[in-house]
Amino acid sequence: MCVRNSHCVRIQIRPAQLADAARLSQLAASTFRETFERDNDPADLARYLADAFSPARQAAEIADPTGIVLLAHHHSESDAPELIGYAHMVSGSPPDAIQGPDPLELKRLYVARLWHGQGVAQHLMDAVIAAASARGAQTLWLGVWERNPRAAAFYAKYGFERVGEHTFLLGSDAQTDWLLSLRLR
Ligand SMILES: CC(C)(COP(=O)(O)OP(=O)(O)OC[C@H]1O[C@@H](n2cnc3c(N)ncnc32)[C@H](O)[C@@H]1OP(=O)(O)O)[C@@H](O)C(=O)NCCC(=O)NCCS
Repeated sequence: MCVRNSHCVRIQIRPAQLADAARLSQLAASTFRETFERDNDPADLARYLADAFSPARQAAEIADPTGIVLLAHHHSESDAPELIGYAHMVSGSPPDAIQGPDPLELKRLYVARLWHGQGVAQHLMDAVIAAASARGAQTLWLGVWERNPRAAAFYAKYGFERVGEHTFLLGSDAQTDWLLSLRLR
């Protein structure tokens, strides 16, 4: 793909494998930290990071046949492929506000900050939509923190609509997430 400043790079999107768990654990923790550390209590953040992004937890999520984990790698001539983004979808009962048929949750979509605004997230989201549709999902839904305007703007570009809100617990801090839903064709 060619990024917005017009130089072209090779970005590969593929399903995660068990061997990716340790590297995914690092990227998942670092992208979560860089996104939310400015606005959150360090103790809450540390507790959440240790629980949600351990290598064992990533391995379990990759192995879960009801979920889908996609990875975005940057391939360069000289270095080994670099993991720069990931997406994680999970099935399960959605909140009442999600009314569409065959729902699938986009639980996480994270791109390393250096790559924001360059089209990598679009590449990943296109793959998310293709994988969700191939799985039979007709409704893709997610929760986005009310204080994360960049992500909300990104999802709006895809046609996600705000259908409600729910509470997300970061450590001891109860936060409001907007619930967004997209009908897949
Ligand atoms: C959310 C994320 C995947 C979007 O990828 P991205 O490459 O940043 O997305 P884009 O630049 O294409 O789109 C973001 C939009 O936000 C808007 N935007 C840009 N900078 C912004 C800012 N500082 N504040 C608010 N909105 C902003 C713009 O409308 C932009 O779209 P445009 O440039 O086409 O007008 C990426 O920012 C990310 O990984 N963020 C950290 C993790 C995260 O928040 N994940 C979602 C959790 S629900």
